[in-house]
Amino acid sequence: MRSIGSACSKNIEKRLAELASFNSTPDQGITRVALSSEDRDARNLIKHWMKELGLNIHEDEIGNIYGRLEGSDPSASPVWSGSHIDTVLHGGKFDGMLGVIGALEAIRAIKERSFVPRRNIEVVVFTSEEPTAFGMGCLGSRALTGELTLDKMRKLKDQDGKSLLEGLIKLGYISESEKLTKSGPLLDLIRTSGEVHAFLELHIEQGAVLENLGIPIGLVTSICAPTDLQICITGKQAHAGATPMDLRQDAMMATAEIALYLEHITINSKSPHTVGTVGKVMVHPNASNAIPGVVNFSIDLRDSNFKIKDDILKDLLIFIERLQIRRKIHTTIDVFNHDKPEDCDSEIVDLLRESCEMRQIPFHKMVSGAYHDAMHIAHFAPIGMIFVPSKDGISHSPKEWTDTIDIVKGVNILTDTIFHLANS
Ligand code: GLV
Ligand code: MN
Ligand code: MN
Repeated sequence: MRSIGSACSKNIEKRLAELASFNSTPDQGITRVALSSEDRDARNLIKHWMKELGLNIHEDEIGNIYGRLEGSDPSASPVWSGSHIDTVLHGGKFDGMLGVIGALEAIRAIKERSFVPRRNIEVVVFTSEEPTAFGMGCLGSRALTGELTLDKMRKLKDQDGKSLLEGLIKLGYISESEKLTKSGPLLDLIRTSGEVHAFLELHIEQGAVLENLGIPIGLVTSICAPTDLQICITGKQAHAGATPMDLRQDAMMATAEIALYLEHITINSKSPHTVGTVGKVMVHPNASNAIPGVVNFSIDLRDSNFKIKDDILKDLLIFIERLQIRRKIHTTIDVFNHDKPEDCDSEIVDLLRESCEMRQIPFHKMVSGAYHDAMHIAHFAPIGMIFVPSKDGISHSPKEWTDTIDIVKGVNILTDTIFHLANS
């Protein structure tokens, strides 16, 4: 391991600001929904930066962008590094973007020293890591595992009823004929073990562990995985004054019971990493003097332990089944994804540690409560993740912030490790 990285703080700050300008909610945080016009413009900027760096650009059918620095041995499997550039609604400018800008900066630092790695190094931008547009996250990285079939891509719809497949056709990533004739996974996308030598993702922590410890670098050992549900409860819309309490079929009260039960089972879980969230609720007719007849809501359940999460999901589904009878309501439940937590590769974690030690940067090994594209790449390649601190532990918010001094440390460690892996 040698010290390669000499990240340029001005470059990083300028690029973060430029990307943040593609935003559909100026002055109210950053909103860049996957496949929107802002996302398209941001993609073009990334490709422009890749061209400036002399990278060979390739895009796949799910819209992932790859920028390749050629190594001296084109037959060797490449090292990948990257993240995503889409955001939540009213989010910040670091989540995802840092991993893409960090990887570009790593390549710039390697080229600046005229180093030619043995393996190709590819900066990868994954499509729609956030579930903002289509209700399910990590679409780009998930597609590489074969999990995202064309049927599912037809079924996943945005709030205007437009499917993921239609969005990809509109941006020119998938041809119309494919839409009509095929149903399985997009076979050309699927990656198998050995095709990618290693994947590294630099990311903000999005929690307060590092800040509380006063440590600038987190080395991720494993990634908690989400299970995402969309539930529709149908009760009976009726008058809020004229309907006695014992004659109601209130869809909102049923939702409240489910939300509280979710809180109860997650708090009492045996795993310290079980968390459950009801973050999106749509009430119909949404009137103060009408008993809600229909509620659509989301459940986001996560854990580092798949068995425990699976048991909790089963418990929740039984609760909902019984609730239907007790409250005389009807429910439909869509389990969008039930993902498995993944470990980071211990040898890569060791390399990251070596870089920290070489540079005398304090680090802390930790579990990621947030999910990341790396979790899906782990299906076919060894992964490593570097965290940098989030101010006040805040993310998915306009208040998201990470100091440049910490970002530079993270990018330097990323650069050392990418370069080392690219020569191994
Ligand atoms: C990713 O943004 C997540 O919700 O963990
Ligand atoms: Mn996010
Ligand atoms: Mn992210």
